[in-house]
Amino acid sequence: MSDSDQGNNKHVEEGPSSRRSLLTKIWVLLGVIALAELIGVVFAFFKPRKQRVSTADRDAIIVAGSVDSFLPGTVTAFVRGKFYLARLADGGFLALSRTCTHLGCTVPWVAKENKFICPCHSSEFDIRGEVISPPAPRALDVYQVVIENNIIKVDTGKRKKRSGFATDQIVYPENRLKVEG
Ligand code: FES
Repeated sequence: MSDSDQGNNKHVEEGPSSRRSLLTKIWVLLGVIALAELIGVVFAFFKPRKQRVSTADRDAIIVAGSVDSFLPGTVTAFVRGKFYLARLADGGFLALSRTCTHLGCTVPWVAKENKFICPCHSSEFDIRGEVISPPAPRALDVYQVVIENNIIKVDTGKRKKRSGFATDQIVYPENRLKVEG
């Protein structure tokens, strides 16, 4: 066999080897891509669902309006959020659940009698949600109220049971002294 024949054979022998090498590289590359996707899927699965929670939180917060739009001694019903915003005579605010603590009927505010009267079994509550007349066993539940820049926000995602009214449940605006004066 001549030198030139040997050279040709060498060239022929390198062809498949080179293709195998290329295929190996492609398989390795595909493997890396598949692994990266798997890691991405696993990461997404275990990642905290922060966005979803914050959206739910945002939906639970009702912007009730400015402090000045609620007169002392009045109760305003909010259909969205299903609560009453009570502004007490001293200018403080309470957000009250409209659900009777007896058996869960919706309790209307009867303005001319200045109290909540349950239509089901006649329980009565004052403007602070305190029981005036049973059978309701405890005061109306309250929601968290926040006043920022004179705007009242009620967090309907944070409902709190209470046995009765206490002054620390009232939320006052920043200009409380002006309201009282
Ligand atoms: S449900 Fe309100 S008094 Fe019974």
